[in-house]
Amino acid sequence: MAKLKSLFARKPLSQLTSEGDEGQQLKRTLGPASLVALGIGAIIGAGLFSLTGIAAGEHAGPAVLLSFIIAAVGCAFAGMCYSELATMIPVAGSAYTYAYATMGELMAWIIGWDLVLEYAMGAAAVSVSWSRYVVSFLKDLGIILPAQLVSCPFESVKLLDGTEVTGIINLPAIFIIAVLSMLLMIGIRESARVNEVIVVIKVAVVLIFISVGLFFIKRENYTPFIPPNTGVFGEFGWSGIMRAAGVIFFAYIGFDTVSTAAQEAKNPRRDIPIGIIGSLIVCTILYVVFAFVLTGMVNYQAMRGDAAPVATAIDLTPFPWLQKLIKLGIIAGFTSVMLVLLLGQSRVFYAMSRDGLLPKLFSDIHAKWHTPWRSNILFMVFVSLFGGFVPISKLGHMTSIGTLFAFIIVCGGVLVLRYLHPEWPRSYRAPFVPLVPILGIVVCLAMMLSLGVETWIRLFVWLAIGSVIYFGYSRFHSKLAR
Ligand code: ALA
Repeated sequence: MAKLKSLFARKPLSQLTSEGDEGQQLKRTLGPASLVALGIGAIIGAGLFSLTGIAAGEHAGPAVLLSFIIAAVGCAFAGMCYSELATMIPVAGSAYTYAYATMGELMAWIIGWDLVLEYAMGAAAVSVSWSRYVVSFLKDLGIILPAQLVSCPFESVKLLDGTEVTGIINLPAIFIIAVLSMLLMIGIRESARVNEVIVVIKVAVVLIFISVGLFFIKRENYTPFIPPNTGVFGEFGWSGIMRAAGVIFFAYIGFDTVSTAAQEAKNPRRDIPIGIIGSLIVCTILYVVFAFVLTGMVNYQAMRGDAAPVATAIDLTPFPWLQKLIKLGIIAGFTSVMLVLLLGQSRVFYAMSRDGLLPKLFSDIHAKWHTPWRSNILFMVFVSLFGGFVPISKLGHMTSIGTLFAFIIVCGGVLVLRYLHPEWPRSYRAPFVPLVPILGIVVCLAMMLSLGVETWIRLFVWLAIGSVIYFGYSRFHSKLAR
């Protein structure tokens, strides 16, 4: 009975917050602007620049604009819940830590383990997309990289002479993960600064695309706005709009990373909600306008399978030089997404390790750099393997399902805590509870369901591996249990 009880042992709030204050080894350097930048840095990336075309061409047509709004609504509900928990429990670890305080150790473990899908797998997915854009940019400059060395073993690549070969390894993906992991090892302040510069470039790319593209919109491309359903669920019509929402949900992933930096924020109670909601609002506006311009420039039927729709659209303008510039901006933009995801990953494992659920090496802080550098090295290897050898679609779907699962648990956490501890101080309260968390759960679950059986099986396998580790190691090393 006692053993069973330990599975549901909850970490007291006082302990959580004092852990945040005492022995503050991570430096408090991030203000509100840095936190919004951290959010935007993690959000705008492969989802917008690669998936918008596919979602419009294969699922929703010009109505992909509505899909962006639906996904944003789901994220907004979850974002409000994240903000409430992050301000109540402003320590590193995000959803993992919240689950520890609300639903007990086993649930906390599950969510921490699941977050690897969002952060590490997400970084791997973006590294593959980054590799695509780099290869294409270099090609514009006349530099052709060997196809087998820029594709994973499960992909067949068409060579210039028309023959098809199977990829061996995606070397650029591995390269970028290694470089960024080393940057993170050196320290948060430097990394945040690099991130801010990149965010400016990235937002500029989106704004330039929108302002130039506006002049090349053809009104006829908007009819039909919702193309009729083809008879297949998820291909146009309203089911297509929902399916596209599930696909482009990937484009919003990242705002929650702001909450993982709570321990590095100067004034977490005020600035974390600003960072989360602020970055979400900025990105939603940019995305919707971007989708409107893109689908106005290029007919949705021409975007089937187009993973670089921005390049296609710019080709329609008389400014080919703009293409190189924009590709360069996109390449830089992807860099900050990976940076923030890798940062979030090491912070979550830092928190889990400090609680004894993972070996100490994940929370060893470097004396000079003040970063969990050993953890950075391990994830450098792990993420590189996925980026180098797994196709982007698999990585993207795994990232989405893992993240949606985390969002649902966070929404559930708000409900549980309001019921169990209505008296705990909340400097930010999610509005209309229980409605907002419940709607968050419903919308995220709907998107999860749109992701297909295969992805669900992978999720279960991943969680099964996690359970083995928990019952084989973590339970016996848990500081709370001891
Ligand atoms: N939202 C991030 C992207 O689209 C993960 O690349």
